[in-house]
Amino acid sequence: MIKFTIITLFREAIEPYLKTSMMWKAVDKGLAEFNFVNLREFGLGPHRSVDDTPYGGGDGMLLRCEPVFAAIESVKSKDPSAKVILPTPVGEIWNQKTARSFMEASEHYIILCPHYEGYDERILSIVDYKISLGKYVLTGGELPALIIVDSVVRLIPGVLGGEKSAEIESFSDGDNLEYPQYTRPEEFRGMKVPEILLSGNHGEIAKWREEHSGTADNSSKY
Ligand code: ADE
Repeated sequence: MIKFTIITLFREAIEPYLKTSMMWKAVDKGLAEFNFVNLREFGLGPHRSVDDTPYGGGDGMLLRCEPVFAAIESVKSKDPSAKVILPTPVGEIWNQKTARSFMEASEHYIILCPHYEGYDERILSIVDYKISLGKYVLTGGELPALIIVDSVVRLIPGVLGGEKSAEIESFSDGDNLEYPQYTRPEEFRGMKVPEILLSGNHGEIAKWREEHSGTADNSSKY
């Protein structure tokens, strides 16, 4: 069973998604487990502060070491083998291959969601994986956490309806995901389903799909 423990100040921004659709199904089937740790509980002083201004000056606030280390150590005290993921725009770019390798390793992953302008660099000393969702900057780690969890959990055998759905991607490195697909009606507003898909010729259909992999969503064809 794959486990995610999400350390965040904004559980309410994450939890509804994990209680919906396939993520909920994965939990219901005992294939995944999601837990939350409130970073605020490890905050300092009467205001349970988790951030401070940067040495050397500059805008914004940085996540402090003490609450982050305490939160991670509280999880690791129960499971020392848990691996720490830090979503950050300067991490390794996430793709389908890494999602699959995380699924196959089936570990307990702790995702630390930073907020504010950034984090104290020393936090990296307890991080196993720095992961970027792309070359743009988000407000915090909550959306990246959801994307990481979703893309890993949907690959667990038994989570998607037909295993075919994940199989389609099994050859992929994330650049060449799917062939175009169609359902009824055969013609919609003048746009026709390719003849070959109606032919019942499975060999020809497989060939067509291979040839058209990676061309899905090419609306210029109509
Ligand atoms: N935090 C802020 N921006 C991010 C990004 N692009 N990827 C991962 N974590 C982030």
